[in-house]
Amino acid sequence: MSTAAQLLKQHLLQRQFQGVTHIAVRPEAFDKLGMLGRKPVTREMPEAPKPIAVESAPAARAILDNPPPETKKAGLIEVAGSTIEEKLAALRALAETWEPARAMNSLRRTMVFAVGDPHAKLMFVGEAPGAEEEKLREPFVGPAGQKLTAIIKAMGLDRPQVYISNICKFRPAMDNQGSGNRKPTVEEMHACLPFVLTEIDLIKPQVIVALGATAAEGLGIPGSVGSLRGRFHLTSGIPTMVTYHPSYLLREEKMGDGIRAKRQVWEDMLQVMEKLGLPISEKQRGYFKGK
Ligand code: URA
Repeated sequence: MSTAAQLLKQHLLQRQFQGVTHIAVRPEAFDKLGMLGRKPVTREMPEAPKPIAVESAPAARAILDNPPPETKKAGLIEVAGSTIEEKLAALRALAETWEPARAMNSLRRTMVFAVGDPHAKLMFVGEAPGAEEEKLREPFVGPAGQKLTAIIKAMGLDRPQVYISNICKFRPAMDNQGSGNRKPTVEEMHACLPFVLTEIDLIKPQVIVALGATAAEGLGIPGSVGSLRGRFHLTSGIPTMVTYHPSYLLREEKMGDGIRAKRQVWEDMLQVMEKLGLPISEKQRGYFKGK
């Protein structure tokens, strides 16, 4: 496909996620775009995914907790490429100028995509990049990232063996930002959600770890970490452990009482290791025994 056709295809996909349902395109142009499996854009397009509800009625919550498979597929982005690597590269390129995120004007412009092995069995999902991540254009490289890297090491893995991503691909903007960071809003998460869902669909990890309540909510698992951790939930059918965000561990450490939260995260990671069939030594099992 020519560059012009690729750009037009990107533009059409972005408009579709913005909820635009009709765009006039000549049938020959549509054929040239090779939008396989999609209805011609001159006809009605599928509905854009609905925003994630924060405070929803019990019935709506039940749907959020257990969306039917076809609902989950709704947020995916179709990308060209014959390998996972090629498809991820196309997805990353699309994220660079993602109009639904840019149009909000509340997210900064530097896109931070993901890092790690596209064939990883284990995928970590955080909330959004911070100052360090934006500078290096890599998720989890600041203080919270160092904590996450230490957790991965304690599991007997190296950082390049896992895949690390965020719900939101842009650092949320603040007045007088400096090095300050804030959580993404529900609307900001919703604007970026198709990316992480498509990454999950391409990588098909055996286990996902949602770091913190914001990441869990973005994946459709609402609630507090305290109420969600310690057992597996499902994201697109993939077992998902919700645990405390590494920033929370750092905050607790600073307050002088980090052991309880660290032990809980480690118990969650032991369950993840068991699910993945990773070897667990006596030393690993006993890290927080008696603490
Ligand atoms: N916190 C996150 O949730 N993601 C990052 O990439 C860094 C910090």
